[in-house]
Amino acid sequence: MRVLSGIQPTGRFHWGNYFGAIRQYIDLQHEEASYYFIADLHALTTVHEPARLRQLTIDAAIDLVALGLDPTKAVLFAQSDVPEVSELCWLLMTVAPMGLLERCHAYKDKVAKGLPAGAGLFTYPVLMAADILAYDSDVVPVGEDQVQHIEVCRDLAGAFNARFGQEVFRLPKAKVLDHSAKVPGTDGEKMSKSYNNVLELFEPPAQLRKKIMRITTDSRPIEEPKDPESDHLFQLYRLVATDAEREEMAATYRRGNFGYGQVKKALADAADRFFAEARARREALAADPAKVQAMLRDGAARARAAAGAVLQRAQQASGLR
Ligand code: TYM
Repeated sequence: MRVLSGIQPTGRFHWGNYFGAIRQYIDLQHEEASYYFIADLHALTTVHEPARLRQLTIDAAIDLVALGLDPTKAVLFAQSDVPEVSELCWLLMTVAPMGLLERCHAYKDKVAKGLPAGAGLFTYPVLMAADILAYDSDVVPVGEDQVQHIEVCRDLAGAFNARFGQEVFRLPKAKVLDHSAKVPGTDGEKMSKSYNNVLELFEPPAQLRKKIMRITTDSRPIEEPKDPESDHLFQLYRLVATDAEREEMAATYRRGNFGYGQVKKALADAADRFFAEARARREALAADPAKVQAMLRDGAARARAAAGAVLQRAQQASGLR
């Protein structure tokens, strides 16, 4: 099985990124082949300060390795280091119907809010399709918000194959996890940088604790029994708690007679513990950015070899070579 996924360096990573996607990258890195990249080309649609983009890209690589991604197993690279993907993106653009892209939520939501949306945002799913198809990926581990884009990728791959009468591209499938396909933010909405409701993976522990203590909760009386499954505070707790702690907390919810302050404290404690090792690894890696740059260079070379072969197939099929 060949695995691929990408993540944008538009800010520091948050719990949604980790529990929805990164955790899966790590679990799947032992497969036949796995490719994970930092989507700096996609990030250009929102990050417009060059030094910041460069720094976020390096930070992203450090974070991924600190969290357990092993660059000797998985291929870890920056999207823009593989120009073959941009070329493939153009080939896919020639089979992409306007209506299909108009229905994609990233673009549709921005337009609905009256925000400026350029061609970069409009064709964003086509570049994403090129990312996926360039490595003959079978499985794309993502959070729920990316599933639509993977469907678009399948449509474009199918359209290209049909137009040229050959199986040029392999059709991928999304892989989402139960319980963390849509991690809630501090306000109960989907955790997202653009909603300003994130818990970052590596923010200083005291700051993280403060944010956790400010998570919005309802005002039902303390005595009332509550359903843990429908509470975003519990949804966050279950991600970092042990199985026994989760069961115990669920029972507490069902019994009633507890305060949300107590849950928040338990959440902050569990989070400290859960990320402690990664935090220590991150500090060591951050002290040696040259090593991380070298990892990315090595990853790019491996990625280019794979993407080059697929691009050539697409060029031949379409009459370019
Ligand atoms: P991005 O950078 O927005 O998010 C990276 C990954 O994190 C997941 N995620 C979440 N999962 C659960 N709950 C949440 N609250 C949450 N927030 C984010 C996302 O689903 C994603 O898996 N377009 C992609 C990047 C990309 C890509 C690709 C992904 C570019 N090319 C090719 C897969 C394959 C994006 O913006 O993800």
